[in-house]
Amino acid sequence: MTSTVNALDVIRAKRSGDVLTDEQIRWFIAAYTDGVVPDEQAAALLMAIFFQGLGPDELAAWTTAMLASGDRLDLSSVGRPTVDKHSTGGVGDKVSLILCPLVAACGVAVPQLSGRGLGHTGGTLDKLEAIPGWRADVSNERMIEMLADPDIGAVIAAAGAGLAPADRRLYALRDITGTVESIPLIASSIMSKKIAEGTEALVLDVKIGSGAFLPEYVWARRLARTMVGLGEAEGVRTAALLTEMDQPLGRAAGNAVEVTESVEVLAGGGPQDLIDVTLALAEKMLELAGVDEDPAVALRDGRAMDRWRALISAQGGDPDAPLPTARAQDTVVAESDGVIGRLDALAVGQAVWRLGAGRARKEDAVSATAGVLCHAKVGDTVRKGAPVLELHTDEPERFADARVALEGAIEIGPTPVPERPLILETITSG
Ligand code: URA
Repeated sequence: MTSTVNALDVIRAKRSGDVLTDEQIRWFIAAYTDGVVPDEQAAALLMAIFFQGLGPDELAAWTTAMLASGDRLDLSSVGRPTVDKHSTGGVGDKVSLILCPLVAACGVAVPQLSGRGLGHTGGTLDKLEAIPGWRADVSNERMIEMLADPDIGAVIAAAGAGLAPADRRLYALRDITGTVESIPLIASSIMSKKIAEGTEALVLDVKIGSGAFLPEYVWARRLARTMVGLGEAEGVRTAALLTEMDQPLGRAAGNAVEVTESVEVLAGGGPQDLIDVTLALAEKMLELAGVDEDPAVALRDGRAMDRWRALISAQGGDPDAPLPTARAQDTVVAESDGVIGRLDALAVGQAVWRLGAGRARKEDAVSATAGVLCHAKVGDTVRKGAPVLELHTDEPERFADARVALEGAIEIGPTPVPERPLILETITSG
């Protein structure tokens, strides 16, 4: 490909606040993915974008170029509507584990290509790998077979290297150059991967609060709007729910403990906040897929549980196998009588990470058994000395560090706290 574009002109233009042309963007992303543009120049452009932003046309061109760097899966042979969900990540966010079989049980195929946890938020694949035998690697052909299978209709797998490879390189570079926290760069990164997986519709769960990637409402909302716009522009029906992440979702945070809690919900029990968020997302997914089914019924009558069992078995897992449990436990107790006013999601997420459930680098192994159980949550009345958090790990020497992360995380006051809504806003393109 001959082009008159060169990296230095593109960097200078963005640094000065000029609008980049489609050709400049297309060329830059392709040249960086092919190794023609070096990291130094890509890092300079990312920093210029961090400060100058990208206009709507530039962002659309940037995302399209990232998509074009790899394959876009063709799910047309699946033979039923497809819809996926993506969460921006939170603490105790095991919703995908329930939602995927639940929506499949309502007749819509769910191609859920997921990542692993990084930092204080957990990853779906790490959680499912706590199930003996379960494997995250599924070939594209097998994925389509599972989605088309009337008894499964879903897949939860690692995204293959061929999907949006430009993002793999750019994300790694952003991670080490202080350019992660940019709305256009985050939106294009997430959406290029989700659009590449071939889903017809997508529901985004954008978390807001201390345990969220972008804690502040105004930024999370802007990100949600940007992503919905990008999805719609690429022909993917897209909506976003802004949901509360000031305290952990459900009562369990960690890998095996979150699988256990998900199975409780599929069996008809489990914490109400987790059920409510899952059902709200499921309803929106079914609406976008044009399917008139009530997911609460599929949860109640056991159809979602049947799908879970089929889905786990299809990927080598044994749904009946006991999950691993931690060798050591420690309890954090209430320091006074009263009502819990705050249970900081970020602190709990960091404690879970310090107990061994998370990784600092992509190649690190994670502990299946490490985690935190919340015996009490915001609004609960506690007595001094009552257990609030139960810490789990195989390495008891980790307890001290986890406790440091939890300092100041639990606030207990004398008066009841007003109940806060879990679903804060729904954003659609209309
Ligand atoms: N998740 C992604 O995939 N990309 C980002 O930029 C941020 C979160």
